[in-house]
Amino acid sequence: MIQLTYISSATATVNDAEVQTILTASRRNNAAAGVTGLLLYDGRRFLQALEGEPVLVNRTYERIKADPRHRAVVLLSSKDTTERSFGEWAMAAQKVATARASDMATLVDELTAGVADANIRELFRGFARVRAAA
Ligand SMILES: Cc1cc2nc3c(=O)[nH]c(=O)nc-3n(C[C@H](O)[C@H](O)[C@H](O)COP(=O)(O)O)c2cc1C
Repeated sequence: MIQLTYISSATATVNDAEVQTILTASRRNNAAAGVTGLLLYDGRRFLQALEGEPVLVNRTYERIKADPRHRAVVLLSSKDTTERSFGEWAMAAQKVATARASDMATLVDELTAGVADANIRELFRGFARVRAAA
């Protein structure tokens, strides 16, 4: 398996309802492809991890990259893994908001508790905390 992580910027038309639409399609497609992961969204940027069989993760990522609802998609890491970090979720998601900053950090800590790679875990936790502090 591989686990791939990227960051991107949402385009102006994206709002919470649009993110829900993205999640509905993501969960349907990912369940069919055996892809699991986590999507954080702070109203401006996305941080997403995708994991599963390489061909299926890469195919999903290629489709995501072409999506006009975000831009400046930057691959942060892509590596082999023997275990899933987000195995329970076809796509877990969390809106990172300034409100309830500490609850936010706690939630993201829980979502990332199973991430074996400390760099990836800190990437997600940092994303939640930077936004919470903004
Ligand atoms: C930030 C972001 C994350 C996305 N994540 C996924 C995903 O995990 N899986 C997926 O299939 N599509 C994801 N999409 C949606 C795809 O770009 C694409 O719209 C969708 O896969 C098309 O599916 P459909 O042909 O079944 O409608 C994401 C889009 C964005 C903007």
